[in-house]
Amino acid sequence: MLKGKDLLSIHDLSVEEVENILDFAAKLKSMQKSGIEHKILAGKTLGMIFEKSSTRTRVSFEVGMYQLGGSALFLSNRDLQLGRGEPIKDTARVLSRYLDGIMIRTFGHDRVIELAKFAEIPIINGLTDLLHPCQVLTDLLTIKEHKGKNLKNLKMAYVGDGNNMTNSYLYGAAKVGMTLSVATPKNYRPDQNVFENAINDAKETGAKLNWVENPIEAVKNADIVVTDTWASMGQEAEHEERKKIFAPYQVNSDLLKHADKNVIVMHCLPAYRGEEITEEVFENNADVIFDEAENRLHTQKAIMALTMAD
Ligand code: CP
Ligand code: NVA
Repeated sequence: MLKGKDLLSIHDLSVEEVENILDFAAKLKSMQKSGIEHKILAGKTLGMIFEKSSTRTRVSFEVGMYQLGGSALFLSNRDLQLGRGEPIKDTARVLSRYLDGIMIRTFGHDRVIELAKFAEIPIINGLTDLLHPCQVLTDLLTIKEHKGKNLKNLKMAYVGDGNNMTNSYLYGAAKVGMTLSVATPKNYRPDQNVFENAINDAKETGAKLNWVENPIEAVKNADIVVTDTWASMGQEAEHEERKKIFAPYQVNSDLLKHADKNVIVMHCLPAYRGEEITEEVFENNADVIFDEAENRLHTQKAIMALTMAD
């Protein structure tokens, strides 16, 4: 269903495509745990363009490609002519002649759209300022593992900065029919266009999505609480100012008193302890958080296999 397609945003996927990715990721995970190899991408090469830093995305895509029988090339913008101003549309057409797929992590989402427009091979969004779809698909798999398969019965609360993670959670929750309450300061709400699209997508699944200013209201009876850094990549200069603005949005044990008693806390990482999450809450939820990190591997293997296999 996804063969030859791009994965730029969860919004572009059908409800069935999201289900397929999650089911296939779970299957690939259990195969790997049982020592069963699946070299479905033998002979294929993935290019990985990084215009921002990464630990998880870089390593999980590279290892995932290896496990599927293919190989991956790390392409930093410090080394590519792209970093010296070669147009994306030329880069797209050149790389399409060598590679079988491209994963890109960059700043403006328009760069990914441009790459996909001119490339003849699948493009996978490895994070833009607007969206981080691979991470949110991974989080949905992790929630199924920890909270049961029926995501429709669950309430998630996102607390913090309305950023690329928040936007993708809105799209993800809409596709799986989950309840998602987002709490951010008024001036740091999720992207308005994304919010409207997600509300529209939610009509198909019955997902309930809302924004509130008060974190306690969002967290009330939540089964899952998620947060992310207060200063995303590219916002380093605002970090000190943001620490003050977001202080009331810290995920700490007081806030969690309002959640369901079996609440799990998730974080895409890297985490800034003492800022968006306390050391105590982080360590109490470390098992889930590192399952979440591991699941990047399985989810992205599913995405690569579904988009890139013959
Ligand atoms: N969560 C995530 O995308 O991590 P990296 O920035 O390390 O890739
Ligand atoms: N919102 C964060 C996510 C990091 C994985 C950022 O963009 O830096």
